[in-house]
Amino acid sequence: MHVWYIRRRMFLLTTTNNKTMIQRLLSFLDASPVNFLAVKAITEQLKAAGFKHMDAASPLVSAMPGDKFFVTKNDSSVFAFHIGKEKLSDAGFRMICAHCDSPTFRIKPNAEMLCEGGIVKLNTEVYGGPIMSTWFDRPLTLAGRVIVRGKDAMNPVTKLLHVRRPLLQISNLAIHFNRQVNDGVALSRQKDVLPILGIISNELECNNLLINIIREELNVNADDILDFDLYLADATPACTFGVHNELISSGRIDDLSMCYAGLEALLANAGTTANATQVLAIFDNEETGSQTKQGAGSPFLASMLQRIALAQGDTMEGFYQAVEHAFMISADNAHAWHPNYPEKYDPTNHPHLGGGPVIKFNAAQKYASDAVSAAVFAEICREAGVPCQRFVNHSDVAGGSTLGNILASSIPLRGVDMGNAMLAMHSCRETASVADHIYCVKAFTQFYK
Ligand code: CO
Repeated sequence: MHVWYIRRRMFLLTTTNNKTMIQRLLSFLDASPVNFLAVKAITEQLKAAGFKHMDAASPLVSAMPGDKFFVTKNDSSVFAFHIGKEKLSDAGFRMICAHCDSPTFRIKPNAEMLCEGGIVKLNTEVYGGPIMSTWFDRPLTLAGRVIVRGKDAMNPVTKLLHVRRPLLQISNLAIHFNRQVNDGVALSRQKDVLPILGIISNELECNNLLINIIREELNVNADDILDFDLYLADATPACTFGVHNELISSGRIDDLSMCYAGLEALLANAGTTANATQVLAIFDNEETGSQTKQGAGSPFLASMLQRIALAQGDTMEGFYQAVEHAFMISADNAHAWHPNYPEKYDPTNHPHLGGGPVIKFNAAQKYASDAVSAAVFAEICREAGVPCQRFVNHSDVAGGSTLGNILASSIPLRGVDMGNAMLAMHSCRETASVADHIYCVKAFTQFYK
C-alpha cells in the first residue's frame, strides 16, 4: 500500500463535505431494507432534483435536451434519464447500472408456525445467496410491499412496508447441544433459519398474526390485504467503524452502495445538460440471475431507449447508432483483500479497501471489461483525481458474475464491469471503505460530465 494513498484517505475523512456524503449513504442504506424501499428512496431524491415520474404505460411524447425523467418497473427497478444536448443517435448515452436487490429471506405464504410454549416462528425461503450463519442472533425486521384491494381485480394497490423496530430473530442452537459448531455446520434452508416472531398466550392469536402486524403498520382493513412480498432485514442501522471511522458496516452494501454512488453522480450533474444522455439503471433480481421483467435480462431498458430515440424524431436506425456511441459502467461491488485469507486472492491483482474503484476482469467473459473499456474507465478515474485498482479471480476460484454481460444480450453495449472493494459479500453485515465511496462518486460524476 502506497503511503500517499493512506495520507489521501485521512484527508478525505476530515472534510465536512465528505462526512455528509457518507452520512447520506448510511441514511440511504437504512431507508432501503429491501429493493422496493431502495427504489422509493431513489425516486424521492430524483423528484426532489427535478426528475419527473413518467408512467411507462403512457406515451413518451418528448425527450428534449435537458429533460429529466424516470420510470419504474414492478416498484423494484428504476431507470432515470437526463436527456443530452445532442440527439441520442449522435452522442449516444452514458449509463451507470447497478442492482437494488440483496440476499435475504422471503416470507412464505401461510408463514406462521405455532410451536410448543406458544412460540410462533415464520416459514421463509432463501432469496439469493446469503451467508446464512450471519443472519443468526441479531435483531431483524420485516420489509417489502403489501398488495391491498383496489377499484377492481386488475388494479390492486401497492403499499410499502418497513417495520421500524426489531421484530424477529433467528436464534442459534446453544454450543452445549452442538460442540462442533465452531468447526463449521451445515445449515438447512428449511429447518435452521426460521425466525422467531414472538410468544402468544392464546392459540387463536396465531391465525393472522402477520396480517395483524401489517394491518396495524399500514392502517388498512385485514380483509383488504390480498398478498405481500415481504422479506427479512437487519434491524441495526448502518454505521462507520475503525480507528479513524474509515470503514462502513451495513447490510446490502452490495449493491446499494453502487446504486447510491450512481445517484449522487447523476444528481451532481442535474443542473447542467451534457452532450450525451445520462442514464442511471437500477435493476432488481441480480442475485437470482436477472431473468425477470424488472431484471437486467429484460428488454425493458432497451425499449425505453428506443422510445427516447423515436421521441426525438429518430428511427430505429438512430437507436442502433446510439448504442454504438454509448458506454456503460456496470457497477457491482468487488472483493477486497481479506487479511485473514490472503491465499484466496490472485497473487498480483487483489484490490485493497480504500484503494479506489476496482475494474474486474475475467478471461471467460463473465465481466464486460476488456482492455479498451478498462482503459476508458481508468482514464476517467485519472481525470477525476481518483486511484483505481484491478481485480481478477485466483485462477482456482470460480468467482461471481454480474449485470454487464446479461444486459449485453438485449443491448450490445461497450462497457466496463467495476465496483468498490468490500469484505464479507452477502453477509448480513458487510464491510466497505469510506474513502472508496467518495472516490467512486467522483469517478461517476466525471463519467457523466
Ligand atoms: Co452484487
